[in-house]
Amino acid sequence: MTGAVIRPRREDDLAALADVLIRVHERDGYPVEGATDPLAWLRSDHQLGAWTADLDGRPVGHVLLTTATAADSAAGLWTERTGADPETIAVLGRLFVDPDARGRHLGRRLTAAAVRTATQVGRRTVLDVMAKDVAAIRTYEALGWTRLGPTQHALNDGRQIPALGYVSPE
Ligand SMILES: CC(C)(COP(=O)(O)OP(=O)(O)OC[C@H]1O[C@@H](n2cnc3c(N)ncnc32)[C@H](O)[C@@H]1OP(=O)(O)O)[C@@H](O)C(=O)NCCC(=O)NCCS
Repeated sequence: MTGAVIRPRREDDLAALADVLIRVHERDGYPVEGATDPLAWLRSDHQLGAWTADLDGRPVGHVLLTTATAADSAAGLWTERTGADPETIAVLGRLFVDPDARGRHLGRRLTAAAVRTATQVGRRTVLDVMAKDVAAIRTYEALGWTRLGPTQHALNDGRQIPALGYVSPE
């Protein structure tokens, strides 16, 4: 075993990451929308970057960094609070780690990689996390993220899921 690296996501990671996501959904109910089309869910038209946690050649974790859209409640909270131009905001999401590869701080390392890139391109990182996702909240707070306030995550069927907005340290 040579250990884990965090590296830019490659196209040929996607199939393995989709399998991981299905296991994560079964175990944690993440994402709340379900994992019926994992490949589409992993891609975004607003992508600034995407990273894979690679454990001995096996993709076991993932994070995505995007520009802010109207659907990103935390970006709205940050804009309201600071008057920030949306062009100076990056949104972190699609963070997950294979249940078998947890507890190695890969979640923390993926988050840090995304924030580093956002900082390099002059953007402050925000995110929305479901209030039920306590391990993720622990990960962000351990890295010094600040809670912006409660938000709601709207599902296609009209349900609202309690969520929290966070901003990364400066
Ligand atoms: C969030 C997630 C990526 C963290 O992965 P990971 O590589 O195990 O994370 P880390 O090892 O960096 O740290 C996890 C922290 O949460 C803690 N934790 C784990 N399960 C927990 C629980 N049920 N309650 C509270 N804290 C918990 C761990 O102890 C650790 O904190 P510590 O280092 O202070 O002990 C992983 O749990 C996951 O994929 N969850 C499902 C997807 C998800 O919720 N994504 C959120 C997107 S916003």
